[in-house]
Amino acid sequence: MKKLIAVLATLVALTSCALGFAACSSDPRPTLNVYTNAGFAPYEYVNEYGEVVGVDIDIMEEIGEALGYNVVINDIDFGLIMEEVGKNELAVGAAGMTKTDERDEAALASISYAVSVQYVIAPKDSLDDKVVDGKVSLADLAGKKIGVQEATTGDYLVSDEIDENGEIEGTGVLEGTNATKTSYTNAIVASGDIGANIDVVVIDKLPAQSIVSGNANLECYELSEEPEQYVLYFNKNATELVAKVNKVLEKLIENGVIDYFTVKHSGGIVG
Ligand code: ARG
Repeated sequence: MKKLIAVLATLVALTSCALGFAACSSDPRPTLNVYTNAGFAPYEYVNEYGEVVGVDIDIMEEIGEALGYNVVINDIDFGLIMEEVGKNELAVGAAGMTKTDERDEAALASISYAVSVQYVIAPKDSLDDKVVDGKVSLADLAGKKIGVQEATTGDYLVSDEIDENGEIEGTGVLEGTNATKTSYTNAIVASGDIGANIDVVVIDKLPAQSIVSGNANLECYELSEEPEQYVLYFNKNATELVAKVNKVLEKLIENGVIDYFTVKHSGGIVG
């Protein structure tokens, strides 16, 4: 009987491992803690089973598999990701993170695995008179109440142009236009507030398209701004790990795997 129980216990442990449960204590591999922020489909979102899935999660699973890490996904506030990465050598920010000079000072970036650009989400037809070649410009948002996800590049872009405290030299295109900025925990929550407390939301391309695809009253346009490079951010001391990760990323890009993940996660989005 005891033997049978032992066998059953082992089987349960093995199955949990096979299913990739985080609490799999018999996984001998070191843990690579992934910090992300769901609500940013197709890169990371919560599926119908309540699991955090997406392009970044699939990429991290591939990296874990290739380099022998037990990958653990942590869904936290976007603004806290860099801090967590700074604390732990086996931590990575995988959250559709744009490469910026400020972030480069605090952490090590991988090679770029995707390109994006800022988009504006607005009530259907509300920007019709501004759209040129499918794009609007930041100046077209003069006087608007603009929602952003806190601590994102969209947040910084809008803040700089409004320049509320007059800290930036020269005149921002939204300065003195009565445009305001409101920060939200994510772009889905922000978009839910369009027509109530805000007029538009500024967020990255694919998440904007994903939100609009689920809401017939909204539409989105490209903001004519610089393209942004998505990277994984690692602890400053993780030089060797980043070199290995870059090799894996190169293969995933070359073989079209990242494109495949992007297509795979661009349908059936829950939130
Ligand atoms: N690309 C933007 C940035 O790096 C937005 C990323 C938001 N990511 C997320 N998972 N919510 O600031």
